[in-house]
Amino acid sequence: MWAGITGRSGETSVQPAVDGVPAARVVTAGLGPADHIAPDTVRQAAGDVSRLLRKLAEQTGVPSCHAVSLLGDLTGVTGAPSPAEVVTAATEGHALGGYLYSGHRSGPAGALPGSVTLVCPDLPGMDAAFTRACTVVEAVACARDLVNAPAGDLGPDSYARIIGDLASASGVEVEVLDETDLEEQGYGGLLAVGRGSARPPRLVRMRYLPEQGAQVSAGLVGKGVTFDTGGISLKKPAGMDAMISDMAGSAAVVAAVLAAAELELPVSVTATLPLVENMPDGDALRPGDIVRHYDGTTSEIVNTDAEGRLILADALARAVEDSPDVLVDVATLTGAQVVSLGDRVSAVMGTPSLRDRIAALARRTGEDAWSMPLPDDVADGIRSDVADLRNTGRLRQGGMAAAGLYLRHFVTPEDTVGAGSATDSGDRGTGIPWAHLDVAGPAYNTGTARGYTPARGTGVPVRTLIALLESLQHLA
Ligand code: BES
Ligand code: MN
Ligand code: ZN
Repeated sequence: MWAGITGRSGETSVQPAVDGVPAARVVTAGLGPADHIAPDTVRQAAGDVSRLLRKLAEQTGVPSCHAVSLLGDLTGVTGAPSPAEVVTAATEGHALGGYLYSGHRSGPAGALPGSVTLVCPDLPGMDAAFTRACTVVEAVACARDLVNAPAGDLGPDSYARIIGDLASASGVEVEVLDETDLEEQGYGGLLAVGRGSARPPRLVRMRYLPEQGAQVSAGLVGKGVTFDTGGISLKKPAGMDAMISDMAGSAAVVAAVLAAAELELPVSVTATLPLVENMPDGDALRPGDIVRHYDGTTSEIVNTDAEGRLILADALARAVEDSPDVLVDVATLTGAQVVSLGDRVSAVMGTPSLRDRIAALARRTGEDAWSMPLPDDVADGIRSDVADLRNTGRLRQGGMAAAGLYLRHFVTPEDTVGAGSATDSGDRGTGIPWAHLDVAGPAYNTGTARGYTPARGTGVPVRTLIALLESLQHLA
């Protein structure tokens, strides 16, 4: 032990100066026992170091500093991450931990950690790992910025314009449907939710096609509620400010598509993004109303705060028309997700093989997710006497699954309101493999920063989506 440092995971220390080290200070970060080091241990430690560097810069009044990050040699340690994994994790951890959103503060923006030089063994693949990690970091920061933007600055139309600008800079095609287009094409769920806001809804479609063509296609759908008051079923005031994050699913999808283009992945990706503000104005959607979705399905509105599924219904129905090889939607959909898994573990539902693959990939990236079932009996709660579906279940229990089952209807209609032959035991013979990620808790950190996770927008699940798109190239 040196200077009281134990080296346990999560521990950081600052040493004034060390003989023989040409630096004003030495910062250490513990990784725990050598045979228990996971890539995310490195990522978290690097994030802790970047946040500590920023604090030091603030305390000492030095606006920024230059740091050298010495990555220990783990070769020979069984189960340890490979050198490329260490470089990836350290790059992501340092850069993501150094992320700072200062919004409209008039004072000093807060110190940035300056530059960090990574020192690592000179092995093949290290440059590629570093370059990829930088692209991933840019994508996560992009999603965080979008989530952190207050709803006053980011409505459906301005959000659509921003997506258009980002996409054209990356060579991604964009199409924006305005309220007139939406009316003509029958996007009844999106229009219904948007009626309570002075700012009309938009549907953004992004398409990335690799230059060499693609054998595999992915459809991504993201919930883009720029602010969720609950509508006429108004939310309580406490914590409502966090509802600026109700477009985090769409932000993650935007960032993942841009990253796919940047990384030139050999997979075609089409994103369908319903953007809307859920407000309680004079013409707002009411409980008891019935809306007709893009595919003709009707929904009885029981609670206008269950608005995410109404817009995702239209978007999923549209995305299915493209017949993608996999279809994934991402949404801050239910408070029940936070109740069941807390605010660090996302829930994945849907076609078992795709669901489980995404959960495993998420855990590997450190974003963390867990597979959850869609039990048949919960689907009874969303059957309606006056429409095809109710937009909430009858019970408080199983609220996350009720939302998932509601969405499933728009991908495989026969499973939810049809014969009711749904089982959760295997992949279905028909239909598109589909997964639904409920990221209500993990997308937004209402607490304080930790590791590489800042307060507010976290960027979850951008890294999981990128990992999924990368994994699809091996499916071809
Ligand atoms: N956007 C919320 C879900 C949410 C809750 C996201 C907490 C992030 C943190 C969603 O639109 C919503 O209000 N869901 C309701 C559904 C209910 C009325 C069936 C909920 O979960 O309470
Ligand atoms: Mn809501
Ligand atoms: Zn919502």
